[in-house]
Amino acid sequence: MGKPVFINSYYTCQIMAATGMLAGRIALVTGAGSGIGRAVCRVMAREGAAVAAVDLNQEAAHATIQGLPTAGSMSHQAFCADVSSGGSVSELVQNVRAAFSALPTVAVNSAGITQDAFMLKMPEERFDKVIAVNLKGTFLVNQTLARALVSEGITGASIVNIASIVGKTGNIGQANYAASKAGVIGLTKTAAMELGRKGIRVNAVLPGFTETPMTDVIPEKVKATVTSLIPLNRMGQPEEIAEACLFLASDRASYITGAALEVTGGLSA
Ligand SMILES: NC(=O)c1ccc[n+]([C@@H]2O[C@H](COP(=O)([O-])OP(=O)(O)OC[C@H]3O[C@@H](n4cnc5c(N)ncnc54)[C@H](O)[C@@H]3O)[C@@H](O)[C@H]2O)c1
Repeated sequence: MGKPVFINSYYTCQIMAATGMLAGRIALVTGAGSGIGRAVCRVMAREGAAVAAVDLNQEAAHATIQGLPTAGSMSHQAFCADVSSGGSVSELVQNVRAAFSALPTVAVNSAGITQDAFMLKMPEERFDKVIAVNLKGTFLVNQTLARALVSEGITGASIVNIASIVGKTGNIGQANYAASKAGVIGLTKTAAMELGRKGIRVNAVLPGFTETPMTDVIPEKVKATVTSLIPLNRMGQPEEIAEACLFLASDRASYITGAALEVTGGLSA
């Protein structure tokens, strides 16, 4: 007969603990109900994070967490919030903190919209709306989470903001969107400068043309034309953007802040 195996609570904890690049971390992901945000949730859960999946569409956020692998003893949770509202974002950060009994030390800002029109015809409301969600929404989540982290003295945090290659190149019909994404790059670089000494890294990912519900509405003919300009000759998959977010969020990117990483299949500015 072999020796009896004594499992004390320390070893039990080790067995229960999640493994992976984000083991033991809480990751807040906005725009988590669809496309890139949903893929980010999957990749981060795979790597051991407990995910706070945030979306304006609560049902979609719930659907995202249903399919996620569990992260050790912590469960994933869905939250409804409008990133363009300061009140909603403040409430969100408080609710996430209460639900997980800790603040997230990873955040990915993927909530975003398009409302395309040629500039000469673009109504003021469309310009304002896209700036409010894409740029101000990203600012509010960065500011609110960073304030909370700093006030609790938590370091080792990483924020990833989803911008777009269009923020560098511009794009016909997207004066509002391109301006919002250029703004996200500027915001990211500034936040990185201000928050580095406080132990918070802030980076941007600039996706190219990626297959999600956002691009599903583009006519096939236009898709074919854009694809022909991409050196890798295809659209990106949301998972390919998510893997770049994972790297920047993880400690493997511990000396990277203020970067704007293009994930575009080679399409560049
Ligand atoms: N798909 C692409 O080709 C592409 C390229 C470059 C950048 N991006 C950017 O990537 C991000 C994700 O895009 P996607 O393609 O996954 O789009 P998507 O439309 O599939 O997902 C966007 C999600 O954001 C949510 N959302 C919208 N407004 C919100 C708000 N006010 N508050 C909270 N959530 C809100 C939506 O409900 C949706 O679930 C966006 O910021 C987008 O601009 C996408």
